[in-house]
Amino acid sequence: MSFCVAIDGPAAAGKGTISRAVAAQFGLAHLDTGLLYRAVGMKGGDPVMAARNLTPEDLARPDLRSMAAGEAASRVAVIPEVRAALVAFQREFAQRDGGAVLDGRDIGTVICPDAEIKLFVTASAEVRAERRFAEIGEGTFAEVLEQVRARDARDMGRADAPLRPAEDAVILDTSDLSIEDAVARACAVIATRRG
Ligand code: C5P
Repeated sequence: MSFCVAIDGPAAAGKGTISRAVAAQFGLAHLDTGLLYRAVGMKGGDPVMAARNLTPEDLARPDLRSMAAGEAASRVAVIPEVRAALVAFQREFAQRDGGAVLDGRDIGTVICPDAEIKLFVTASAEVRAERRFAEIGEGTFAEVLEQVRARDARDMGRADAPLRPAEDAVILDTSDLSIEDAVARACAVIATRRG
């Protein structure tokens, strides 16, 4: 039986860590959908063709977590044909037996609008930039903050599948939470809803 947990939110809000922890705790498969857009952005050439022809090797590139890849991802993510090319793979993953956690920007609104559980994980731009800066050790804090803000604006402002909480999403603001507390809250929501 399929069971889908949709986790959306802006960059560096803690989605990835929470999603991995939730998947491990409840024995669900996990898909980080940002990696798909990062791989398309880094493949070069026509992004629509790149999205239609993504390979496992593209998804295994060692540079997909870099700032450059995040930037490239959010640029190709505004293209409706790129998004359309990635929908089927994500929906199939969401419906797999045993259940799945998908994290991204449009999982609860577009990819899995019927997900059993929807979480919207957020935090202030400053807190997210601090976390991202500590994690990647690239550039300056000011550059990272600027990139976080630019990415928010692009992700929230695009016409196709903009970043926003689904109406039935539980909002989890992690600005003042340790990662352990954020994970514990997410797990509590899921345990309650799962019955
Ligand atoms: O989550 P991550 O930072 O890896 O995502 C990189 C970029 O990919 C985001 O800023 C966003 O533009 C795009 N993305 C998206 N929809 C998703 C996942 C990521 O548009 N479901």
